[in-house]
Amino acid sequence: MRVLGIESSCDETAAAVVEDGTRLLATSLSSSAEIHRQYGGVVPEVAAREHTMAILPVVEETLKSGHLTLDAIDAVAVTEGPGLLGALLIGVTFAKALADALAIPVIGVHHLEAHLYANAMEEPIRFPALALLVSGGHTSLVYWTDHGQITVLGETRDDAAGEAFDKGARILGLPYPGGPHVERLAREANGTDLRLPVANLGKNSLDFSFSGVKTATQELFRDQPERIPEIAWALQHAVVSALVKTVDRAASDHPAAHVYLAGGVTANGYLREQFFNWGRKKGVTVHIPRAEYCTDNAAMVAALGYHRYLAGHIMPTNGSPKPSYPLEGLGLFRA
Ligand code: KG4
Ligand code: ZN
Repeated sequence: MRVLGIESSCDETAAAVVEDGTRLLATSLSSSAEIHRQYGGVVPEVAAREHTMAILPVVEETLKSGHLTLDAIDAVAVTEGPGLLGALLIGVTFAKALADALAIPVIGVHHLEAHLYANAMEEPIRFPALALLVSGGHTSLVYWTDHGQITVLGETRDDAAGEAFDKGARILGLPYPGGPHVERLAREANGTDLRLPVANLGKNSLDFSFSGVKTATQELFRDQPERIPEIAWALQHAVVSALVKTVDRAASDHPAAHVYLAGGVTANGYLREQFFNWGRKKGVTVHIPRAEYCTDNAAMVAALGYHRYLAGHIMPTNGSPKPSYPLEGLGLFRA
């Protein structure tokens, strides 16, 4: 079964065709990040306008690159939330109209759950698993026992991990989005004696807190502005250590031979290295998507769409975007 995935929840307009939830046949993406850079963050109205202009060319380019025609598509999957309302609206409206014209089903998917499916491009997901979602807007640690069966174990109490990178980068005078710039500078420093504190939420907590790291970055930069690369390294180290420590803690109570990581922050090389080291030590297989599938893309949307379709989740004719769409909204529950 071939699913055309559409992603438009933030500043990336993307389309992809995936066969049977695992074989990527074609993909294309247009990003408006460059336009948002001058504002230091995503401007919702600008993002929506860019999606309007990009959606058709991106879908056409996807089909062309895979030597596919519309009649090769069996269903359309689209991110229905969470995300920016105006941005989601473009993708959802387009997906519904196209599916209607082709008389094929349209499937709405949860953006964060979709991020996990970037791992399905390599090989089928193996359950039960622990999964860590670290993006610009979310940080969630979940126990994943089957497709659609997710228990949220912990979440951030304030900033998301990606936000910690972005806000830290801003303090250091780096452009948005800051994650890749922090990583680049940290590589220059290649270690330092500087350390930034990681919040301690109690030894049983599986939640995260990153707002303290931001404040500490600010103070360190004020006191030692000449040590920017080292501060970047310390910031990266603090965020990654908090993530590894919490996954390690979760692994003792939630036995899983596989740990899946997803979301933009997992493009970070230091994070990948630290998690692979941790997995080797624990005898756990750590899965992280290829860097281009860590950030927003449509392959993950199409892959999840396939599994949602098998479970009978077809979007009704009056289906609309869900800008705030907690993972609990899937009929899932928090531990
Ligand atoms: O998943 P994503 O593309 O979009 C959201 O759904 O939020 O994640 C974007 C986030 C941004 O905060 C960005 O700074 C961060 O991922 N990011 C990184 C790296 N590449 C992207 N953070 C650290 N290191 C990176 N190499
Ligand atoms: Zn995302």
